[in-house]
Amino acid sequence: MALPQVFLDELKQRCDIENVVAGYLPLKRQGRTCKGLCPFHSEKTASMVVYPESQSFYCFGCGAGGDVISFVMRIENLGYIEALKLLAGRVGLDFPEDEREDPSLRVKPMIYEINRAAARFYHDCLMGEGGEAGREYFLSRGLSRKTIVHYGLGYAPPGWDKLRDFLHSKGFSDGQLIQAAVAAQGKNGGCYDVFRNRVIFPIIDLRKNIIGFGGRVLDDSKPKYLNTPDTPVFKKSRNLFSLNFAKGSADGRLILAEGYMDVIAVNQAGFPNVAATLGTALTSEQCRLIATYAKEVIIAYDSDGAGRTATSRAVGLLAEVGVKTRILDMKGAKDPDEFIKKFGAERFKLLLDGAGNVTEYQLSVLKAKYDLDEPDQRGSYLTEASRCLAAVESPIERDIYAGQLAAETGVGKEAILQSVSANRKRQVRQEKKKEWSAIQSGRGPALAPGGSAPRSTAAAIAEEGIIACLLSKPEEAARLEGVISQKDFITDEGREIFGIIIERLQQNTSVSLSDLAGALTEKQMGFAARGLARQQGIPPAADPLGDYVRRLQGARLKAQVQDAAQSDDAAAALAEELRRRKQR
Ligand code: GTP
Ligand code: MN
Repeated sequence: MALPQVFLDELKQRCDIENVVAGYLPLKRQGRTCKGLCPFHSEKTASMVVYPESQSFYCFGCGAGGDVISFVMRIENLGYIEALKLLAGRVGLDFPEDEREDPSLRVKPMIYEINRAAARFYHDCLMGEGGEAGREYFLSRGLSRKTIVHYGLGYAPPGWDKLRDFLHSKGFSDGQLIQAAVAAQGKNGGCYDVFRNRVIFPIIDLRKNIIGFGGRVLDDSKPKYLNTPDTPVFKKSRNLFSLNFAKGSADGRLILAEGYMDVIAVNQAGFPNVAATLGTALTSEQCRLIATYAKEVIIAYDSDGAGRTATSRAVGLLAEVGVKTRILDMKGAKDPDEFIKKFGAERFKLLLDGAGNVTEYQLSVLKAKYDLDEPDQRGSYLTEASRCLAAVESPIERDIYAGQLAAETGVGKEAILQSVSANRKRQVRQEKKKEWSAIQSGRGPALAPGGSAPRSTAAAIAEEGIIACLLSKPEEAARLEGVISQKDFITDEGREIFGIIIERLQQNTSVSLSDLAGALTEKQMGFAARGLARQQGIPPAADPLGDYVRRLQGARLKAQVQDAAQSDDAAAALAEELRRRKQR
């Protein structure tokens, strides 16, 4: 990447990590560091720390970490160059003209182009000769021609090579089709269409790019839906179906449904402010996205057991990003699609306007569970209900519901409020404890979700330390020559980052954390930032680098002893060496 170093340096100068992060979430100063609620996972106690001195951040809860650029890449869902452009624009810095683009920037437009061509192909197939099956399906589900065109719906014909051949004729290669994931690698070379004999739902992002597809079978065969897997332009966990349409129309209210057909039915009935997750549970990243467009979400999930579980989950996640929720109680229908078909758009509007709030909904579910004429069951109802009220933030609301409960059960309101308040205290205590023990046990660090589980935590800590030392004092790298090399690293991240740092140093390129933002993956960034974070938490050692190297060597030996345990001779020799080292 040949961006002028002067530009990068100037950008780093102007984009202080504390300022940038504070633009996304409230930060609290604590001495030399700042703390805030991590935007990359859901939590109630702040475990993300920003370190102005090393210009890095690290979340002790989920292991996310890096510098200001990787923070922006992640929170804005951008590539390296895109993030640089955004930051440069914000601080009034001109982006260098002759940018040599990073590979992801070349790949993304290519995939967008393939997706656009594919969407056009699917749509033409639906509307043209041979598309009867698809057209009939959509009509049978009550979609108008206008809706079909509005959503750009399509039909993937049967056969293994229709789209492939079409895209070949447009000049795209097998490799490119596979990268876009509209085709998959065949066993004997070549590739074949992923979507066959399915109706197609194009997924469009907020910049109007087609980022992927959903495809539904026309009958009862399995799997019912197929979605594009994650590609360089598509992350299921970060996008919502139809948010592109919902965004412009949201009067601060977003209807959240479970599936493609629900969304389209609701939209067709005259409510465009509707979106759905893409066949997965709601994520905190999607909630943040929602929070930028809506103050209130009306949850319209299926009314079955799975839907109820998903509803409670969504309520919690949305509350964490400050979005109010209401729950649509669709009596007599299993989902919004069916409700509108059965009762019409008018009734759906009434339902929307009157949608009960979360607490009412939870209480009604509880109430249905118990027979309040039975004293025993009345007690259980009250116990569960006070637990549920304990989660209500507003004291006024708690008071109102306690009054309702009192009337229903004949138990005094004061007694109910007391039980609620006891529950509240316990819940807060438990949550704090849980988060703290996660932080202190170092679970975030060594076993961050999705991170490669290192065989030895000691080795992982040593490796993080070595990386952190090299990032802050690259000149010390010379000391490591002949002492440790890439193959001595046990964790994948450590080995990869070490390799990248050494290679850059050999080419005389700088290796501060922000210089690496373009070269490291999110996971690797987290690993490096964790090392920096740890360094700031401990008193400085006389020779930190030397210490970490010795620790890594020790941890390696130990791992080798375990490996060699089967072959006794080797084990004895290694154990002997370990003893000798300890005596030193
Ligand atoms: P219709 O039968 O078309 O009305 O679908 P539905 O909306 O009733 O579907 P359902 O409630 O079964 O699923 C809701 C959403 O979950 C769908 O829109 C899909 O996004 C997703 N989904 C359902 N079945 C599958 C599946 O087999 N695979 C995947 N990946 N996603 C699915
Ligand atoms: Mn349905």
